[in-house]
Amino acid sequence: MTEDGSATLVDPEGRTCHSLAGAWSQARERYVAGVGLTDRGSGGVVRLLDVGTGFGLNVAAALEACDAARLTLEVVALEAARAPLEFAVRAPEPAAGEAHRAVAAALAEALALQEQGAPDAVVGLGERSSLRLLLGDARATLSALDPAWRCDAVFLDPFAPADDPVLWELAFLRLVAERMDPGARLATYCAAVAPRAALVAAGLQVGRLGRVGHKSEGTVAARGGADLEPLPPRLARRLERRAAALLASGEFGDSPGPRVAEQPDAPGSVGSPPAQGV
Ligand SMILES: C[S@@+](CC[C@H](N)C(=O)[O-])C[C@H]1O[C@@H](n2cnc3c(N)ncnc32)[C@H](O)[C@@H]1O
Repeated sequence: MTEDGSATLVDPEGRTCHSLAGAWSQARERYVAGVGLTDRGSGGVVRLLDVGTGFGLNVAAALEACDAARLTLEVVALEAARAPLEFAVRAPEPAAGEAHRAVAAALAEALALQEQGAPDAVVGLGERSSLRLLLGDARATLSALDPAWRCDAVFLDPFAPADDPVLWELAFLRLVAERMDPGARLATYCAAVAPRAALVAAGLQVGRLGRVGHKSEGTVAARGGADLEPLPPRLARRLERRAAALLASGEFGDSPGPRVAEQPDAPGSVGSPPAQGV
């Protein structure tokens, strides 16, 4: 259980899905506020790419904010494992209220449609929004997504780079950056140098996101010219150098990964049932 009373998921390898400072606080403050979600999009529609949907708390916080602003939220949700999604369906987080119950209902419908052979069906989310669940390795599912699809915001919430580096590598972050419309923003809890340098190498401007609870700062990224809270100049120069070296090396990581989505939930795969704190 976390400070704000919400649950934290931990997989059998001990990789946590959420900050101990509070999963729900992080969803609202780090992700929704971090990208300025309700200021994004146009025509009353905000398109969100949710990387590592897990328990769906970040999507719930996005829905809560969009509902309050009377905006339509269109989510593309990338998740490798069924287990955290099924857990959310079984036990929506009380601290996240109606928004998480709506996400749980949408995930239940999307999972049922997957089983009926409709793997990327769009399902309703709350009163006016929608969710498209792409189950499988995000490197494959994002590569396979309609090439014209673009988003206004990205929540980048995989496991920590030290535990599971593939979604922090340049090859995947390039795929993500290509999907971002010019006004789009990306938020992540991670402030490590290597992922930030990979974001720079992917062509994004990188800034800092303030602390949430006891967690250290996070990262916000956007296309050039955005009004982001700047990094200290020395760090910014270091990131530029690392990004240049990364591009010169040609070693961009494993992505695009499997072209065909791997079978979710193979034994020992990421996101297996929560082991504690729920
Ligand atoms: C920190 S948890 C995400 C928590 C979630 N955003 C929420 O709001 O509840 C990380 C998630 O990333 C998923 N993940 C890890 N590697 C992945 C991959 N290659 N493709 C898609 N999802 C992946 C894990 O299964 C896990 O559910």
